[in-house]
Amino acid sequence: MSPNLAQLHPYPFQKLRQLFADITPNPSLKPINLSIGEPKHPTPQLIKDALVANFDGLSAYPATQGSEALRGAISRWALRRYGINLNPATEVLPVNGSREALFAFAQAIVDPSAGKPVVLSPNPFYQIYEGAALLANAEPYYVNCTAANRFQPDWDAVPEQVWARTQLVFVCSPGNPTGAVASIDDWARLFALSDRHGFVIASDECYSEIYFGTEKPLGGLEAAVKLGRDFKNLVMFSSLSKRSNVPGLRSGFVAGDAALMAQFLLYRTYHGCAMSPTIQAASAVAWDDEQHVEDNRRQYAAKFESVTPRLKTAQDVSLPDASFYLWAKVPGDDAEFARRLYQQEHVTVLPGSFLARDAHGLNPGAGYIRIALVAPQEECLEAADRIVRFAQSL
Ligand SMILES: Cc1ncc(COP(=O)(O)O)c(C=O)c1O
Repeated sequence: MSPNLAQLHPYPFQKLRQLFADITPNPSLKPINLSIGEPKHPTPQLIKDALVANFDGLSAYPATQGSEALRGAISRWALRRYGINLNPATEVLPVNGSREALFAFAQAIVDPSAGKPVVLSPNPFYQIYEGAALLANAEPYYVNCTAANRFQPDWDAVPEQVWARTQLVFVCSPGNPTGAVASIDDWARLFALSDRHGFVIASDECYSEIYFGTEKPLGGLEAAVKLGRDFKNLVMFSSLSKRSNVPGLRSGFVAGDAALMAQFLLYRTYHGCAMSPTIQAASAVAWDDEQHVEDNRRQYAAKFESVTPRLKTAQDVSLPDASFYLWAKVPGDDAEFARRLYQQEHVTVLPGSFLARDAHGLNPGAGYIRIALVAPQEECLEAADRIVRFAQSL
């Protein structure tokens, strides 16, 4: 077996099961689970209809590059959403959700032949970045994202000798779990570092469509265009899972640097991960429609507007820039908070320390919990009341 497998960390939800293993939650209360970042709003009918209308696609092998129709729909969306022109023939690749693509991309990019390569990850972070780095024979290096730095990675804290070995940098904006969005200045700084050290930037943007005000989260490719750059060493990852409430469809895309995309396509041809033609057809319909995305956004906004003020009465929490998470500060140990909250109030949230690593003298997730507002509004409000009651009992 690959020795790298032994380096993989247990997934946060595995740790959560262990944390709760010996406790019985309050049986008089209905369980409310706000720990998993899984969209729960119904899948739009137009996507279901498109799947049914395209069952014929099951009788053909798909091309790894995906259909022209789907790449065209993605390019049209990128133009509408970001004002960027993507060449659908060379700069866009459909993928089976951004998770597999983030993982596969690291395998294609990292060159382990030149010393021990480094992959930079925000901290706290989506755990796939770390697993992708480890299985690509790279060393993950965690860049802390704290309140003091607007929950953005503190690039200035990365030593010169680490930059020298860095081949790939994961960016997550809007961030999971903090919801923080990178600004144009954040991007300018990272682009300058990439120009100097030659690393590739993988920008994970799967929460880009869940925002609350009128200001849309800035995308990585959009930032490049705004700064008068091309897409050299830069790719973005997007997904229908959250945007269109189809986490089970497994559909997203990667776009950016044509030279990288050509190599990634080659990798994927052997990897054998072409998207089913039926799913491609439904995905094209989804990318071409914004109505259901606006409805979805309204549902999240209503939840955040009602839940956040209630939680604020007992917790240090504020509306995130974007995403469907509240990143709330808790008194004392976050795992103990989550454990006792589950026991007393039958509400499940994720301890922040489970989403981060101890790095540079601290665990930047410690003292926080992640609350995913995915359940129906009434349930989210009920959970907020229970969290407040619990916090006030401490
Ligand atoms: C930050 C982040 N990136 C990527 C993903 C993967 O999403 P999908 O594979 O459904 O596109 C998730 C899912 O929760 C996530 O939180």
